[in-house]
Amino acid sequence: MKNNLEAFKRAQKLFPGGVNSPVRAFGSVGGTPPFIDRGEGGYIYDIEGKRYADFVQSWGPLILGHAYPSVIDAVVKTAKRGLSFGAPSELESDLADLILSIYGFLDKVRFVSTGTEAVMTALRLARGVTGRDDIVKFRGCYHGHSDSLLVEAGSGAATFGAPSSPGVVADLAKHTLLADYNDLASVERLFANHLIACVVIEPIAGNMGLVPASEEFLHGLRALCDRHGALLIYDEVMSGFRASKMGACGLTKTRPDIVTFGKVIGGGLPVAALGGKAKTMDALSPIGKIYQAGTLSGNPVAMAAGIATLTEIVETHDLYDTLSKRAKRLTEGFLSAAKEAGVPLTVDHRGSMFGYFFTPDPVRNFDEALKSDTARFAKFHKAMLANGVYLAPSQFETGFISLATSDEMIETAIEAAHIAMRAAA
Ligand SMILES: Cc1ncc(COP(=O)(O)O)c(C=O)c1O
Repeated sequence: MKNNLEAFKRAQKLFPGGVNSPVRAFGSVGGTPPFIDRGEGGYIYDIEGKRYADFVQSWGPLILGHAYPSVIDAVVKTAKRGLSFGAPSELESDLADLILSIYGFLDKVRFVSTGTEAVMTALRLARGVTGRDDIVKFRGCYHGHSDSLLVEAGSGAATFGAPSSPGVVADLAKHTLLADYNDLASVERLFANHLIACVVIEPIAGNMGLVPASEEFLHGLRALCDRHGALLIYDEVMSGFRASKMGACGLTKTRPDIVTFGKVIGGGLPVAALGGKAKTMDALSPIGKIYQAGTLSGNPVAMAAGIATLTEIVETHDLYDTLSKRAKRLTEGFLSAAKEAGVPLTVDHRGSMFGYFFTPDPVRNFDEALKSDTARFAKFHKAMLANGVYLAPSQFETGFISLATSDEMIETAIEAAHIAMRAAA
């Protein structure tokens, strides 16, 4: 019989850390990552045949759950007609129409293959149209691994970014100015001293755990950008079509200049995009001079998966209400399990995204997120896994509910949480 440990040992000889994306290695929780054999609805099965209720859902894309029939049918049907053309196809327009019918304030999109590319391109666009170099990002937000964005504060009060990964050129990183999430004064200070091309934000941060920005803060950013001629970029790679149908834009009355998408719009295949007003978007090549390209951009099979996914989203009545209720029930269940075990916990959810921190205090920014007891998190995670619940293997990630995550699965996960909170106490 196949075995996770053996599979991991084999992978460790082949890939740095045994994985092709770092968090998958379970570094912060310890133990062997289950090697996945298949997914079905709300469940994944590892190569040892063990079943887990999956609250990662491929880190967000699978809002309908694994192997959703209409998505698989669309992929298979499209694949039979050819995998890639490197030429325009109408599928690209079909997916763009769906995205723009939901995010009605955007005129045009450009498809790319990963969220990293989408945000990287959005920055280039903002720098290109404003003719400015400096950008503002927030501590604790993740926007993919492009050089300008792999930057975090070297010390609490630092304003000039220091590269947070070797290999990121310091001369580039210095143009990434850092501000504190939900703290408008920290952004005002930067605007007072720099010519800023854009402010990029996860309007519902999902990469320091789940930390939503307040609506007031987002309005403040909008006003600051308008006053100083900078563009506001919402990175909705995770929250788009997740937190609500129109992501953070649907939950708040704020509107950015550029939105980046990923995850859900590809339904599990590599699709991402950036969207904006025609005037801004047309600054991209081939109309404008700002260059961006991709061999597999708008890949037909990936477009088909995205179209099928967004079609279900549009046609499923009360989808976000259902998902949101389940996320709320799950987090409330975690909270009561924690209380019973005497473990301090703070929970939140936005639509189908949920988060929990092992701290009694509210979490509004990265510093507050870092107060979470990660040793406790690791114990909780391990016990949940042992009880058949697959959660993101890091405190600083978000959990996801899919349409296939039934009420019964939520109740089972809450029962497991009672055991796991006792293990973490
Ligand atoms: C908000 C956000 N932006 C960008 C990215 C990068 O996307 P990708 O991993 O597809 O490059 C992620 C990935 O998790 C993300 O959560």
